[in-house]
Amino acid sequence: MTARLISVSPSKPEAAAIKDAAAALEAGQLVAFPTETVYGLGADARSDKAVAKIFASKGRPSFNPLIIHGASLEQLEKYADFNDMARELALHFWPGPLTLVLPRKEDSGISLLASAGLPALALRVPSHPVAQALLRKSGLPVAAPSANKSGHISATTPQHVLDELGDKIDVVLGAGRCTVGLESTIIDLTTPTPTLLRPGGVPREPIERITGKLALTASKAARPNSPGQLESHYAPNAAVRLNATHVEADEALLAFGPDMGMKGGVARMNLSPNGDLHEAAANLFSMLHELDKSGARAIAVMPIPEEGLGLAINDRLTRAAAPRPEA
Ligand code: TXA
Ligand code: MG
Repeated sequence: MTARLISVSPSKPEAAAIKDAAAALEAGQLVAFPTETVYGLGADARSDKAVAKIFASKGRPSFNPLIIHGASLEQLEKYADFNDMARELALHFWPGPLTLVLPRKEDSGISLLASAGLPALALRVPSHPVAQALLRKSGLPVAAPSANKSGHISATTPQHVLDELGDKIDVVLGAGRCTVGLESTIIDLTTPTPTLLRPGGVPREPIERITGKLALTASKAARPNSPGQLESHYAPNAAVRLNATHVEADEALLAFGPDMGMKGGVARMNLSPNGDLHEAAANLFSMLHELDKSGARAIAVMPIPEEGLGLAINDRLTRAAAPRPEA
């Protein structure tokens, strides 16, 4: 695959070009687009499949949660609970380079893979006219990490994006260089004291005028350069047993590939009957969630090959299977 470059004017993007890019997003394709901070690698945030493509193309070794981009505060209020402080921050700094981490609404419709199974969503309204036009035209929540390979520096020009990901994504909406050039500031409002998870495009001082003194991150969850160090991923209530070759009577089975001969258990789902890792990644969090509801004592997971997206899937499963802290 070679990405289709759609070049637009940064300040007045042509309507036909935006319509074209929005249609690609709606069709579940990957569309890199400019924001004021860096280029984002966007996909329909409601679709597990589209979001799985993001992780596959970036070569992330684990599933880092993604920022959900929207056209307006009004739109994003559909997906997460905004308290008074969140609303005040949004009114001051959106559209702009500030990301807010807020409790996800039960019926948000956002892919669990997009937030890596976390009960919180990171939300942002970018100010770049091209990002605004695209988000408005599609009306979609758009999950987008920075448009670079995992571990590489963020892309700030269409050429960076093409060099990094040109053979792995569908469309690059190109509009010159990003003005801020540095990712958004991330504030977590789900902690007792608002916490600065990542310094970025909005300085700390004007934020603290609204929040009071910010706590500095204790969690590694939002350190962009520490893939695989997320601590607070969704853990099912049930225990998780890896590399299962049989199912106990009180277990649920999470199969991968053909599961002939695996009899019994209280519930079963298959990440990908054909052994497709991409499909498995798309299904991972929603199936864990579903099987957890069966009330099984444990979820027995068949072996997943340690290649491609299998690395990220196994990373996540190993975490879910790790001994839990005493309650
Ligand atoms: O400026 C930006 O923020 C750019 C543009 C494209 O919007 N995006 C960006 O995304 O930098 P990314 O994926 O490279 O970094 C997002 C950071 C990650 O470190 C991730 O751990 C954190 O946001 N994050 C996302 N969702 C989170 C959540 N629910 N809780 C805590 N941290 C979260
Ligand atoms: Mg990044």
